[in-house]
This record gives sequence, C-alpha cells and structure tokens, in this order.
Amino acid sequence: MIFAANFKMNHTRATTADYMQALAKRMGEKRVEDRVVVFPPATALDSYKGDFTVGAQNAYPATSGAYTGETGIVQLEEFGIKTILIGHSERREILGESQEVIAEKFQFFLSQGFEIIYCIGEPLEVREQGDEAVASYLLAQFEGIDTHGEKLIVAYEPIWAIGTGRSATVEEISSTHKMLKSHINVPLLYGGSVKPNNIQEIIAVDGVDGVLVGGASLEVESFMALVTA
Ligand code: PGA
Repeated sequence: MIFAANFKMNHTRATTADYMQALAKRMGEKRVEDRVVVFPPATALDSYKGDFTVGAQNAYPATSGAYTGETGIVQLEEFGIKTILIGHSERREILGESQEVIAEKFQFFLSQGFEIIYCIGEPLEVREQGDEAVASYLLAQFEGIDTHGEKLIVAYEPIWAIGTGRSATVEEISSTHKMLKSHINVPLLYGGSVKPNNIQEIIAVDGVDGVLVGGASLEVESFMALVTA
C-alpha cells in the first residue's frame, strides 16, 4: 500500500519540520512493504530524513528561468526531490490548469525521471449521470498522458469527495477502480475524505493500492492511524 499525505496550503516550514521529525520516529510502525509519501507546501521543501519520500505538490515544467513565482527542477533538486503530484483537481479547477497544460507538465517531469502521482476525478454532476459518463470523463483526463511509465502512480479522487467528509462508497470505489484498471496497469490510489474511520474498508477494496489523503494527513497521529490501519 502507498499512503500519500497532501498538505495542500497547510503547515509552515517550522511545523512541517516538526511533523517530519515525528513521522520519521514512527516509520518503524508501518508494514515494511508499504510506502509513505509526503507532499508539503513548496516553502517547506527540504532534505528530511526518514523512511518516507518527500514530493512536490506542483512545479513548473522547466529547469530554471524567467518564470516568476514558479518552482523548477533546480529548486527541487536542491533537496533531492524526484516525486511530484500532477493534475490535482484543485489545480485543474481553482488554478485553471487545462488538460493540455497538465499533459505538458506530465511529459516534462516524466522526461526528467520523476515519479508522478497523477490525479484524476469527476465532478458530482458527472457522477450523477452514471458509470458510463464517469468512465468517459475520467479517461479523457488521460489525454496526452503516457500511462505506461514505470514511475507512474494514478490517484482517483472524485471531486465531490475531496474535503467534504463524504467519501465515495466502497461500491463506487470498487467499480471505478475496476474500470480504470482495465485501461491502465499502474498502482491506483483512492483519495477523497479518507479518514481513520473509513480507511479499513477503503484499503480492503480490490484494486485499491493506496490512498492520497488531505485533511486526515495534517496531524501525524491521524496520518499514522491510516498507515497502521
Ligand atoms: P481530503 O483531500 O482527504 O481532505 O478529502 C484529498 C486530496 O485532495 O488529495
């Protein structure tokens, strides 16, 4: 299983350092075959020590250059960061990243040897139209994306389940993962209101290879409750 923590725009440099230190001490509690990945905000990226991977929530597809406000390869390499989250619905919806922009980022970071956690997810109005609509919406988010990469992980995150406290049901996760797995052969995470009280039923679903967690990852205690569930 892969347990990925997405801090989003939470935590500072100081609180992230405390978190990483506390998390490192507790990595002996996880199953050896499991992996933990943490995505702190860009200002808190650093060379943290521990049995976990640190990744970037976002970056610009260039090594360095005149891109005001952006983070490139040079800034990530300073801390040995080789893992990135691409296509999160908040970047698609709030930051206006089109599929074209996302595909460009994807190709760039793939060519740079990055491990990519690529996020896809449908809005509520699509979910309400049924499985076929969901499938065609989600598969369209693979446009321009090479899904054969060895370092690729996909995260299915229904938008209506993110930060709402309403996770998808076991049936919805199961049928969607099954559909996705008939198209892609890479680890597939579920994300959207994963909490200590629903983690067990979610990781028990066939086709779920891990979870991408926002809110419940912000405290070490609650994130560890997921990792050790
Ligand atoms: P959530 O966020 O766990 O707070 O719903 C998940 C995500 O956006 O990755």
